[in-house]
Amino acid sequence: MRRLRLGFMIPVLLAVVLTGGALTVYSQEDMQVVEDSGFGTSMRPAPAFRHDEHNEAAGLLDCAVCHHVYDEDGKLVPEESSEGQECSECHGSPEGEFPMELVRRFHLNCRGCHQERDAGPVTCGECHTR
Ligand code: HEC
Ligand code: HEC
Ligand code: HEC
Ligand code: HEC
Repeated sequence: MRRLRLGFMIPVLLAVVLTGGALTVYSQEDMQVVEDSGFGTSMRPAPAFRHDEHNEAAGLLDCAVCHHVYDEDGKLVPEESSEGQECSECHGSPEGEFPMELVRRFHLNCRGCHQERDAGPVTCGECHTR
């Protein structure tokens, strides 16, 4: 009897562990680098970005500072955010084309703020670390 029950429990526990693991992969807490799928191949190492740690250290409580939403007239909608979407969903290029615009947007967002606040990395190698 005992053996039978254990045999049943092991696959169930395994399934719980596996799905738990799969779910955390998609949450921002575990994010260590920016790897937008809008870049087919990358020339540079993926930039370091420990999402939650970074935002805490920088005092960024408003998700929409980066995950913004604009209305049809191009006006920022302050009370909404687009955190479920990759930046390339709005700033990408058709598949096969190098998304120069996306690079520009990332650099403007990341480096732009670092320059403005005189805090955080601004040189290529400091972000694209090996
Ligand atoms: C300093 C900018 C910044 C701020 C502030 C920010 N995020 Fe993000 N977040 C990013 C970037 C960059 C990505 C990666 C987007 C991409 O791949 O195109 C991301 C990805 C995510 C993802 C997807 C994670 C994944 O692994 O795919 C979630 C969820 C998320 N952010 C939630 C939030 C929430 C909730 C907040 C506010 C509490 C927040 N973010 C604040 C920059 C930011
Ligand atoms: C839902 C669509 C959408 C998503 C997702 C999105 N953006 Fe934007 N973004 C816009 C629109 C619309 C504008 C304003 C019009 C324009 O500049 O093209 C804009 C403007 C910008 C600008 C110029 C103004 C500013 O805020 O400095 C930058 C830089 C930028 N986005 C970077 C990003 C980054 C980085 C991400 C991912 C973290 C992102 N965007 C996600 C739609 C989006
Ligand atoms: C709105 C402002 C803002 C934006 C946007 C922003 N940062 Fe920062 N970042 C900061 C500040 C402020 C610091 C310094 C925080 C501290 O005092 O440790 C920092 C520090 C860093 C650091 C060094 C500390 C660490 O966490 O390793 C890295 C790397 C970094 N940022 C990467 C990025 C990347 C990549 C992006 C774009 C996806 C980005 N940042 C967007 C404000 C910003
Ligand atoms: C503040 C951080 C930061 C700095 C400084 C920075 N980058 Fe980036 N860069 C990013 C982020 C974030 C992306 C988006 C990466 C992704 O999603 O894979 C990116 C993307 C790129 C890409 C397109 C993806 C690839 O690897 O092919 C290139 C090329 C690039 N950067 C080159 C540079 C160069 C050259 C410099 C110095 C002049 C530089 N970057 C400085 C953060 C930074």
